[in-house]
Amino acid sequence: MLKLVRWLIQQEWPFRLANPVFGHWNPFLSERRADPYPAYHRQREEAPVFFSRVFRVWICTRHEDVVRVLRDPTFSVRRTDVQAPALFKLFVRKLRPDFVEMIERNLLMLDPPDHTRLRNLVNKAFTRRAVESMRPRIQTVVDELLDAAEPAGEMELVRDFASPLPITVIAEMLGVPAEDRGKFKRWSDDLTALLDPFNAPKGLAGAQDAFLELADYLRAICAERRANPRDDLLSALVAAEDEGVKLTEAELISIAALILAAVHETTTNLIGNAVVALLRNPGERKRLRDDPAIGRTAVEEFLRYDSPVQFTDRVATQDCEIGGKRIRKNTLVGVILAAANRDPAVFADPDRLDLGRRDNPHVAFGQGAHFCLGAQLARVEAEIALTTLVRRFPKLDGNPDPPGWIPSMLLRGPTALPISLR
Ligand code: HEM
Repeated sequence: MLKLVRWLIQQEWPFRLANPVFGHWNPFLSERRADPYPAYHRQREEAPVFFSRVFRVWICTRHEDVVRVLRDPTFSVRRTDVQAPALFKLFVRKLRPDFVEMIERNLLMLDPPDHTRLRNLVNKAFTRRAVESMRPRIQTVVDELLDAAEPAGEMELVRDFASPLPITVIAEMLGVPAEDRGKFKRWSDDLTALLDPFNAPKGLAGAQDAFLELADYLRAICAERRANPRDDLLSALVAAEDEGVKLTEAELISIAALILAAVHETTTNLIGNAVVALLRNPGERKRLRDDPAIGRTAVEEFLRYDSPVQFTDRVATQDCEIGGKRIRKNTLVGVILAAANRDPAVFADPDRLDLGRRDNPHVAFGQGAHFCLGAQLARVEAEIALTTLVRRFPKLDGNPDPPGWIPSMLLRGPTALPISLR
């Protein structure tokens, strides 16, 4: 019976049958995953703020509404308190209390003032200077990965380049010994469930196992860094202090776990989506190769054009109105970041990839208090990775239609991308 249900889901039958109640937003269909943008446009044109009966959530698609929801403090991130506490409790019943506490008390689930205090502390460690100082090292990691692929003249971009790069870089930034990087990759894979429980191979239980192992591991390293601080992120987190208050050990471990979860799939997908876009737009590929100085605007355009994080949500803490629709207190409000990023009211010719685009207020990293902590790191990694790739392999080519897209409502990226390098 279970096998039959699984097969039906794999065949997407339930989602096809239920299509009429999804509206245009049915992220479960493979053809929508391959290209969600026509559906986003239709939704924005026909009903820019609509109630998805399937998910019991209001969905916003216009740039203006998305920015408002993310910036307005009356929208909370405490979904589990108000939306479906009973469901959440059922879901996490079998999980250990320390893991549940980590889920409930991580940055992405806290509102001010708790969020402000934690974020200020983390900002003290995760500085622009710390990220910029990684540039030479990121270049070396990129070169090494490409050196390894060069003799074969081809590579699977996601497995051989886009995925190992961010994990190697964050492990080095945190100050994890090189021999433990393999474990970090595994923990990072399993912790993805914190962002997207339905898209993680082992679900929340797998994330819990990874978290408990990571917590033991970090406790030992942090104790060592307390005694002998070094020039790394873990030492900076151990030392970070705001008005005489430091991070507790539980907070520090929770932040490290969230960073590991957030690194995985986001930067990887940014690089994967960007290379798909370059394969589909040879003119822009040539432009990036001939003029590496456009690297910065190019990365912003890749973020806008095919956003690695497509969706996030909030809870309305008061009755309110968005786009003429009355939203009741304690209702979930979703925002499709990727739809906002193609809104013609804000972006000229939004379906065109223009690597030199100047006016580009995209929301791929969110907005407001929860604006992505790792934005600068992701930007630097993607810029170095993509400009080096096209410079070293000017004949780079491949099928612009990847074999599959991640089966996720929230994240977007190719599952694999075979490319030839010469
Ligand atoms: C291309 C890569 C990335 C994209 C597109 C991305 C996107 C986002 C988005 C949209 C949010 C806001 C979510 C919301 O408001 O609900 C966010 C938050 C966050 N991101 Fe990223 N992210 C990326 C890379 C990273 C990296 C590399 C790190 C860590 C080193 C990171 C760490 C975080 C953290 C900790 C938060 C929560 C911040 C808070 O709640 O205050 N992200 N990210």
